[in-house]
Amino acid sequence: MSILTDEISRRRTFAIISHPDAGKTTLTEKLLLFGGAIHVAGAVKSNKIKKTATSDWMEIEKQRGISVATSVMGFNYGDYKINILDTPGHQDFAEDTYRTLTAVDSVIIVVDVAKGVEQQTRKLMEVCRMRNTPVIIFVNKLDREGRDPFEILDELEAELKIGVRPLSWPINIGAKFKGVYNIFEHSLDLFTPNKQRVSERVEIDNVDDPRIDEAVGEADAAKLREDLELIEGVYPEFDPAEYLEGKLAPVFFGSALNTFGVKELLDCFVQIAPAPKPVKAEERIINPEEEPFTGFVFKIHANMDPNHRSCIAFVKVCSGKFERNANYKHVRSGKFMRFASPTAFMAQKKSIVDEAYPGDIVGIPDTGNFKIGDTLTSGESLHFKGLPSFSPEMFKYIENTDPMKSKQLEKGIQQLMDEGVAQLFVNQFNGRKLIGTVGQLQFEVIQYRLLHEYGAQCRWEPISLYKACWIESDDAAALEAFKKRKHQFMAVDRDGRDVFLADSGYVLQMAQTDFPKIRFHFSSEY
Ligand code: G4P
Repeated sequence: MSILTDEISRRRTFAIISHPDAGKTTLTEKLLLFGGAIHVAGAVKSNKIKKTATSDWMEIEKQRGISVATSVMGFNYGDYKINILDTPGHQDFAEDTYRTLTAVDSVIIVVDVAKGVEQQTRKLMEVCRMRNTPVIIFVNKLDREGRDPFEILDELEAELKIGVRPLSWPINIGAKFKGVYNIFEHSLDLFTPNKQRVSERVEIDNVDDPRIDEAVGEADAAKLREDLELIEGVYPEFDPAEYLEGKLAPVFFGSALNTFGVKELLDCFVQIAPAPKPVKAEERIINPEEEPFTGFVFKIHANMDPNHRSCIAFVKVCSGKFERNANYKHVRSGKFMRFASPTAFMAQKKSIVDEAYPGDIVGIPDTGNFKIGDTLTSGESLHFKGLPSFSPEMFKYIENTDPMKSKQLEKGIQQLMDEGVAQLFVNQFNGRKLIGTVGQLQFEVIQYRLLHEYGAQCRWEPISLYKACWIESDDAAALEAFKKRKHQFMAVDRDGRDVFLADSGYVLQMAQTDFPKIRFHFSSEY
């Protein structure tokens, strides 16, 4: 095997997603502990955007500043190189999370056993489904009272619209929780409720081994056998190919806080999770093993220092080897650039890196050259697909309040939009600029940053809108007729594409019924 092939096959780049509080931070931390990347529990907490009240966004921004280093966490585990891409917990930054999901090869979803599937998990799963991202589910907090595991499995299947297959099975739950039977490896791990100690493993031959009865008692052993029989009857054998196609999610049970079931998850994960896959560009499919380097920017992190408007662009390497100081083409501008101090993220530290391989994330210091979705290559003109914008859910008109600073305001808005902070639309009827976000926080962030980084002042004017959706049609006359009828509600996005601003769900539904030749899209990628 060539070095490149070898490096690719040992890489696992993934994200952990969950509804806030299900245990994403705790699980991340435990995975880092196993990888030797950190040595004490509590080290990842600094990155946590806590359930702070939305008004406390200054605090959130501060935490975002800290989070550059923890945005990507790379570590070695056995022969594998693991890259965990962090996603913001706060739902107002959901758009950031969506984009991060375009840069991963698989996902681990954390679900709280008492709460089951929650709203944000459902949303994030939709994004995974769009891209057929392979998903493993970790049902967490088994040390607490929760729901029946069979019920949880049914809910996962129904709510996340994906087939499930338990690969481990809990023996009781809450105060009576005794451990899990590992179906993947046929072993038994007993639960020790102690954050410092890893679980105790009982050597067994198979599920009928009497040592199980000794370890957990006859009644629980009998229940376990019954459950396992039911599982074997209901769920087909685990098929890794189905998992890789994004059709089937293996399910593990455990307690992240107690480091229980985490190693089992990790060991199975490295075996079955995919290495970097071919990536679709508009022009062709790029195989990671191709020699020439290609990569794309999926995230831009603004530095919180207002005096130096510097950012870090996060580039996912898609093919070939990335080298420091090599000459790479920035496809959108057509310019060649050299990067003297690209950084890699290992063990929570940022350090200059000389080379990186597909699956790795490289941080490139930037002073405004990059936009989300930009492609870098060794010379070929490629445009990567798959960095969708989603229909925003909140809208406000942005108004300049300092006429002397209109240039600064323009520039600020443009750069913040390049960073992907929010989406800009221009209403075609009144020419006014409309900012769309997924959460109230973004408006505050934008206003603050425009003032502190660009010296521009703005004010928000409310507008009541339900959704902005992209429209298209094969029938030019039908499209024109629609735009004419809805002229007060038509806008264009930054790429000049037509966007319909529906002021209520009812209006949108009526438009869909009345104009069957128009296609309405709720994500910019269609
Ligand atoms: P998140 O990133 O998904 O938002 O969740 P996080 O890991 O921060 O976990 C949320 C809360 O759930 C934390 O408690 C954490 O300690 C707890 N937790 C995580 N895993 C388990 C588990 O397996 N069992 C139990 N019982 N609790 C778990 P907190 O009180 O909000 O935070 P902290 O003060 O403990 O840090």
